[in-house]
Amino acid sequence: MSVAHDTTALRSTAAPSQDTASAEARPSAHSGAPQAHLQVAAPSLVPSTLAAGLTCRALDGRVVEHANLDHAASAPVLAAVKQAVDIASQTYASVHRGKGYASQISSGSYEAAREEVARYVGAREDDIVIFTRNTTDSMNLLARALPTGTVVFVYDSEHHATLLPWPQAQTARLPVPYTVRDAEVSLEDALSTIPAEHRLVVLTAASNVTGELWPLERLTRIARDHGARVVIDAAQLAPHRPVDLESLGADWVAFSGHKLYAPFGAGVLAGRRDWLDRAEPYLAGGGATQEVSPLRTSWHRGAARHEGGSPNVLGAVALAAACATFRRHGEAIEAHESALFARLREGLAGIDGVRTYSIFGEDHERVPVITFTIEGLEADLVATALSLEHGIGVRDGRFCAHLLVDELLRREGSDAPAAVRVSLGLGNRLEHVERLIAAVRSLAANGPSRRYTRDAEGAWRADGHEVVAAPSPW
Ligand SMILES: Cc1ncc(COP(=O)(O)O)c(C=O)c1O
Repeated sequence: MSVAHDTTALRSTAAPSQDTASAEARPSAHSGAPQAHLQVAAPSLVPSTLAAGLTCRALDGRVVEHANLDHAASAPVLAAVKQAVDIASQTYASVHRGKGYASQISSGSYEAAREEVARYVGAREDDIVIFTRNTTDSMNLLARALPTGTVVFVYDSEHHATLLPWPQAQTARLPVPYTVRDAEVSLEDALSTIPAEHRLVVLTAASNVTGELWPLERLTRIARDHGARVVIDAAQLAPHRPVDLESLGADWVAFSGHKLYAPFGAGVLAGRRDWLDRAEPYLAGGGATQEVSPLRTSWHRGAARHEGGSPNVLGAVALAAACATFRRHGEAIEAHESALFARLREGLAGIDGVRTYSIFGEDHERVPVITFTIEGLEADLVATALSLEHGIGVRDGRFCAHLLVDELLRREGSDAPAAVRVSLGLGNRLEHVERLIAAVRSLAANGPSRRYTRDAEGAWRADGHEVVAAPSPW
């Protein structure tokens, strides 16, 4: 989509170590909204991101702080991640491919990153951590490693990354449930009626559409009672809470660094090694091989088998630094986000014409993600107006979860083809949430403040708004 801000006004100040509590107390040029009633975590305990201080120019000419309410898509870089990457860059060299000093350090950092990630996911002694590009890559890797004849059980509500990699003829699709009990019954029924030597149940920890937490313990127990294995998509949970493979009794977990404030191109598949050791290498090439002769190639076992090519050591270091930061500050992060989220939900609930969506019911526990529609306004127009008029970034569409979004809209009797998603994270302050609530209230009551028309590519354009190309960072 080509709608962009007037980037002449784009500025990013160098990562101020964000003092969350005092930021809340600062008077806001924007809202005049209530500032004092939330309990925010002690400032030093909420890690800061490099996006703090980014400003943009709204259509009426005001320069405002960019309110990024789209953390679920990709989260800004944590200051601690950047610091770790800067340090690792000073000794950057090949991994497991050299005897030189820098190579030794880089190789050591890469393996230490594996251990840090293993801790974050509660890996068992014999589990392996494979660095991939992202969750999509991790799920596709596991799909290629399924023993012949494996039947896969997956709910229609999954993100496409987790819905689609499995062999279609061997996949049992379960409907989007209405309740937790519903989810249990359909899994129980499917496992009772579809036998196979190997079975894999695919679960998502937190929905990328509604933020709702899936009942992982209960569903994993059902899978295990039927002798099935479980893979968990933790792409949306990992940026808020850790996953514990061991205590859950799940077999694999996958997540993405770029959603965990570590956007340096690394993701993870962690868990049991047996299927992975028996599978063909995911990426055939150097690093995965033990020995190559004219007639035969033998492959490593363990993570190296599926990490062909030169490893992304800075990505792995970034991901590990994010995991370490989350392990240290988990409670403060959760307190910060849940206070802001409570205010967001309360604010949206009070606006006429705004409808929010859920799978298991409005009271179900969630990470700070919410999806809504405004009666009579198209979702992409709402997202465009929030950006151009208010400096607020959100996501619109069906969020790579078409089956789920279609179903939720249908259940609520909405004729909207798409929705708007707001997702909070470490970069947010109360002012961002208040600004969003005020903007949505105004949109619901009066519509956008400018006239918008669609351009030839279907993107909304505001009258009088010139799109300026973004400056290259290099
Ligand atoms: C729940 C969930 N699973 C998987 C993915 C895919 O992640 P990635 O695009 O990093 O591969 C996403 C991305 O939005 C997601 O939200």
